[in-house]
Amino acid sequence: MCGIVGYIGDGQAVPILLESLKMLEYRGYDSAGISVFNGSLETYKIAGRIKNLEAIIPENMQGNIGIGHTRWATHGKPETRNSHPHLSSNISVVHNGIIENYMELKERLIDLGYEFKSETDTEVIAHLLHFNMNCSGKKCLLDSLAETIKELDGSYAIAALCADEPDIIAFARKNSPLVIGIGNGSNYAASDVTAFLKHTKEVIYINNNEIGFLKPDSIEIFDLDGNSVSRDTETIEWDLEAAEKAGYEHFMLKEIHEQPTSIQNTFAGKLSELEGTVTLDELYLTPEQIKHLRRATIIACGTSWNAGILGKYLFEKLTGIHTDIETASEFRYGNPVLCGEELTIAITQSGETADTLAAVRSSKSYGCRNIAITNVVGSTITRESDSVVYTRAGPEIGVAATKTFTAQLITLYMLAIHLGRARGVISAEEAKNLIVNIKRLPGQIQKILNRKEEIRECAEQFADMKDYFFIGRYLNFPIALEGALKLKEISYIHAEGYAAGELKHGPLALLTEETPVVAIATMGHTYDKILSNIKEVKARNSTVIAVANEDDTEIEKYVDVVLRIPPSHEMTSPVLSSVVLQLLAYYTALAKDCSIDKPRNLAKSVTVE
Ligand code: G6P
Repeated sequence: MCGIVGYIGDGQAVPILLESLKMLEYRGYDSAGISVFNGSLETYKIAGRIKNLEAIIPENMQGNIGIGHTRWATHGKPETRNSHPHLSSNISVVHNGIIENYMELKERLIDLGYEFKSETDTEVIAHLLHFNMNCSGKKCLLDSLAETIKELDGSYAIAALCADEPDIIAFARKNSPLVIGIGNGSNYAASDVTAFLKHTKEVIYINNNEIGFLKPDSIEIFDLDGNSVSRDTETIEWDLEAAEKAGYEHFMLKEIHEQPTSIQNTFAGKLSELEGTVTLDELYLTPEQIKHLRRATIIACGTSWNAGILGKYLFEKLTGIHTDIETASEFRYGNPVLCGEELTIAITQSGETADTLAAVRSSKSYGCRNIAITNVVGSTITRESDSVVYTRAGPEIGVAATKTFTAQLITLYMLAIHLGRARGVISAEEAKNLIVNIKRLPGQIQKILNRKEEIRECAEQFADMKDYFFIGRYLNFPIALEGALKLKEISYIHAEGYAAGELKHGPLALLTEETPVVAIATMGHTYDKILSNIKEVKARNSTVIAVANEDDTEIEKYVDVVLRIPPSHEMTSPVLSSVVLQLLAYYTALAKDCSIDKPRNLAKSVTVE
């Protein structure tokens, strides 16, 4: 997730672009840049926050047209050379999204003589645009952009400037947001209305597969066949503060709602349901090494540790590799028995958690190879691991992890399928079936989000309770742990997650009418077992809230409230159940008027032991 902006009008572009970029900094802040036309294209870019960019732009830099970008790295480290805008001769481009076929395009462009200065996928857009403008006679910027996007697989919101046509900003969109702001003698383009809300509240949302251009006093939009598209303007009713959160009351709610897109980004370009394969080019393990793996140890803290438990189950089922899961803080001070043939997998959304980093360093001293699963490009863990698989969920601002958790789960599915196929433990058919089900998840999550009011009602009903239990079996056990963690983190209700079979070994003593129990009772081979556990709970008069499949007509006979998920594969349904529990925690905290995005005593990234 990055932020793009464009400005054309009678004002000075530089201050407007910088101000807009600051409003988009929440979308990424590892580097930033602008290009402004003032007789020629002048481009400034730099690693770090917008204030670094401000410091290198000459005072009184003139120009009435420009584009800008704030980056959240996906391809290439957060360094100045990878910052946008990317240039090709007289063309400058900013991009938000992921170009899945960029390697193929890059090779072609290198053969054509183009020289690449960055590791990014975006630079191919700039060169391809230049090539299309010049390959058979001279084409205009808009026609060339139309040609260019035909060759791009993936997602993009693009804004482009060309020094030969300094009176327009061309734009295109597919699966990454792009909105146009209509001013008076000025027009704006941006990833999010926040960027220009100070100047105008009149907007046009660009749809997928649309392309167009801005002039100071006009906007033209076309479909991919070149037909002109007319669109009514909309008026934004939010104030600036609400707009930063794209209209959501809290970042956590926004991030929960981003999951259909964020997990799509996690698996984009990696899954082939035709072949039953997962492509993880970033994994530096030879087929021989994969075949000889005997044991894996997953190391993580907090929510990432909960994801790791699911990882253990997936690894053991799909790869046949014995897998242990360790909390990083314990691993460090235990006496781990490891040898060089083994794999460690560190899961950390921030890539900076001190205990996880120390545990990885310790495992490396035994000669283990480490794979890091992280959301932050260039974070410390990425520099200390042999391989890095990025979760690509976009920046997460709310302290309670939501979209980074589901992105970790998706990454673990992909890793397990990849290793399982390479080791011949699962067949192509089994892999295809799983891949199809992973690809269904974004749509299924959207269905849950569409019915969030049911979850809200349930949350409000039990918001005054002092204790909560969450139970699940097998793949749903880590989801029960994560459900309890989410609730306690943000609502301050005491909550515990348990393997459902363990209830009778202690916790049953605590159950009363005042102790709601959330049971994850989705379809699968432990369904009958969890039904028995639910009956044990009901016999103690506790309220049971079940998370169950939409087509389960049995469950309502045994429980008090049913929160539904779309019918889904046993292996992938934990992702859906976790979204339900995120919303349950969120609405409980909301009912209690808690500080949701910044819970007391907690931090997003824990860089101390
Ligand atoms: C903190 C955060 C948690 C997170 C944990 C591990 O406690 O508040 O949300 O799960 O750190 O963080 P990591 O970045 O390593 O996943």
